[in-house]
Amino acid sequence: MRFYLASRNKGKMRELTEILAPLGIELKPLPEDFPEIEENGTTFEENAKIKARTVSAVLGAPAIADDSGLEVAALGGEPGVYSVRWAGENKTDHERNVLLLERMRSVPENERGAKFVCVAACAFPDGKTLAVRGECRGTILDEERGTGGFGYDPIFCVPEYSCTFGELEPEVKNSISHRARAFAALGSTLRAYLETIGEE
Ligand code: IMP
Repeated sequence: MRFYLASRNKGKMRELTEILAPLGIELKPLPEDFPEIEENGTTFEENAKIKARTVSAVLGAPAIADDSGLEVAALGGEPGVYSVRWAGENKTDHERNVLLLERMRSVPENERGAKFVCVAACAFPDGKTLAVRGECRGTILDEERGTGGFGYDPIFCVPEYSCTFGELEPEVKNSISHRARAFAALGSTLRAYLETIGEE
């Protein structure tokens, strides 16, 4: 089955195409002139559903979307759903990391737990929507390490590997990340749903 991907991010298209292909799900890019979608939800679930539903309703075809971010326990779950905007408009990934490290400066090692969260959603033109969540737990270091990945990757340490997402090989990150887990779960949920309605 083919789905529009409600994102203009080419890296995301590549990553998700790989994850979903074995499940028989093919992704199509948004048309060039598709309008900007306002993400005004207050949870990852709401934002992922808003994006998938908007694209599906406008294009009259099934659509897939995701919404993700970093939740830091010592900061009450911030930056969370506001992960891009949290440090202010037009900031770089490095500037966001510096601000987060600064806010965590006096937090002891045993209280530096955090998790990346991703909600993957798909929507159909009849309004039916499915959404599932994937998480990846780790800790926040006191400095950036590694140059791979993007966003908060250099300060997020994965205990199983004793290194940051920024230091891991992309294939390894993509096999354990919140996004990989959410989309693997969406693939299974979707297949089960399609079987119940007699589609492939
Ligand atoms: P989006 O919802 O996938 O666009 O992600 C929103 C923001 O969350 C990104 O701009 C990053 O700041 C952060 N984020 C989400 N996933 C990751 C990741 O895998 N690594 C690092 N940062 C991430």
